[in-house]
Amino acid sequence: MGSLFQKLAFQVFPYIALTVFVVGHGYRYYADFYQWNSRSSELIDRDSLKVGITMFHWGIIFTFFGHFFGLLTPQDFLNKLGITSEIHEFVALYTGMLFGTMAFVGLLILLKRRLLKPRVHAASSTNDVIVLILLVFVVFVGTYNSYVKRFDVLYTIAPWIRGIVTLTPDQSLMNPVPWSYKIHILLALTLLGFSPFTRLVHIWSIPVTYFLRPYISFRRRFVDIP
Ligand code: HEM
Repeated sequence: MGSLFQKLAFQVFPYIALTVFVVGHGYRYYADFYQWNSRSSELIDRDSLKVGITMFHWGIIFTFFGHFFGLLTPQDFLNKLGITSEIHEFVALYTGMLFGTMAFVGLLILLKRRLLKPRVHAASSTNDVIVLILLVFVVFVGTYNSYVKRFDVLYTIAPWIRGIVTLTPDQSLMNPVPWSYKIHILLALTLLGFSPFTRLVHIWSIPVTYFLRPYISFRRRFVDIP
């Protein structure tokens, strides 16, 4: 029973979540294009937004890149660059603690604002609140792991994720992994599958071209039209 659960959780569920993620974003882009945005609440209440949104975004963006490069780059390759597993673990742990805490505190501020500021609350959908609560859990368990559990992921979870990406999944790598890490992964996969149907679609619309556009959009007209 235990191993059946593990197979479903770490061999089948990741592909379900990833498929829903990809197909869901495609569907949402074409079927609901005009709702593809961050549902900004800045106009409703700007002052209460600043601290929480800034802490959360910087925390989550660094955490995202840390997970991406830290887990997908094989340790054997890093060894050749002189980055030993001790250095890798050290950097992962302490940056995880720093940015995880930032994201977590930011999320608590955002959640409090969304529930307790009447105008923001009135403009929120259930979906907006669920996203924040799910993020609170994912980030809390992840940060708890880096403070308390400190399990060596480099030869367990990291090769398991690479196996998922390269379509050669091996769920047995997850056998020695503590439950708190497994819960973090399952919650994160759930968030991944849910994200196309939420405001999180804004992540894929970073306005990079904004920095390339001409600085001046309007200029004075030299000739007066009679
Ligand atoms: C560079 C990438 C990103 C940009 C440019 C960006 C931009 C924004 C903007 C403009 C808002 C609206 C703030 C407002 O209410 O005015 C927002 C809200 C939000 N973003 Fe991002 N975001 C990015 C990445 C992310 C990531 C990676 C996540 C999470 C995985 C995320 C999660 C959220 C959430 C949950 C909210 C709603 C916060 C609330 O409840 O008010 N964002 N983002």
